Amino acid sequence: MTKVLTLGSLNMDMVMTTKQMPTVGETILGETIDYFLGGKGANQAVAASRIGVPTKLIGKIGMDTFGEKIKQHLGNETIDLAGVICDDTVFTGVASIFKLPQDNAIVVLPGANSLLTAQELSAKDFQEGVLLTQLEIPIETVLQGLQLAKKNQMQTILNPAPYHRSVPTLLPWVDIITPNETEFADMVGKKIQTASELETEMLNWVREHQTQLIVTRGAEGVSYVEKHQLITVRAPKATVVDTTGAGDTFNGVLAAKLAQGMAFAEAVEWATTGASLAVEKLGAQTGMPSDTQIREKMKEK
Ligand code: RIB
Repeated sequence: MTKVLTLGSLNMDMVMTTKQMPTVGETILGETIDYFLGGKGANQAVAASRIGVPTKLIGKIGMDTFGEKIKQHLGNETIDLAGVICDDTVFTGVASIFKLPQDNAIVVLPGANSLLTAQELSAKDFQEGVLLTQLEIPIETVLQGLQLAKKNQMQTILNPAPYHRSVPTLLPWVDIITPNETEFADMVGKKIQTASELETEMLNWVREHQTQLIVTRGAEGVSYVEKHQLITVRAPKATVVDTTGAGDTFNGVLAAKLAQGMAFAEAVEWATTGASLAVEKLGAQTGMPSDTQIREKMKEK
């Protein structure tokens, strides 16, 4: 029986390494190009399945070369792919990822992801365990998924990425929301520049909402609120090669550990450690760790 159900996007990531971004009207020479599997839905499913938890992915790809490759590669993971629909009217989602020395810039062409409709979701998939979803598929589909999950008391995690103005309307069906700092700033409609501003905004947000909030903060780790206090789980030191998919690893491991019945605080520690391991390899899914790798890394703390 599925324990983590991931509802979301599948993309082919084209990763171009370049020293700088061109400005409008400019042509520059980059360094390398690599093709990796990506998409927040697929990435989070891979992260959860590597923990060893039965995981199912629901999403849509096109009937093209990228769609074929995605199915082939995901077939090597332990993920139930029966919910991945192939549509011959549209292209598979593509992400152009510019890997810059300081961070990444990503442009996503959603393609098939944008055609996954609420009507295509089947209630029988939303029976038990944890639903993990993000916002690279239509918001109505996300809403339907959350509502179906809540009908059967599934635990629900929303990774509000990329941010969408309808996020507040989803919250009644969301148990845990996991924005990064930029998405959290969007959620509160303010610029957040310092750690103390972040703390104030998080405490205010939690006071006004029932949903558990976790803000992922890159190298700083993650923060959440417990008993009116901000708790920050520091990220272990990592040799950063590529940050793409770090947030997805966090979400996938968190969902898997909660599905296994782990307590919230411990699951957050595992997920933070998992994300720090994932950044040590190029490609969103390449460095996603196994349960054993995370356990070993946690012993070093
Ligand atoms: O979160 C990283 C992912 O965002 C990439 O794999 C890319 O496909 C985009 O969806």
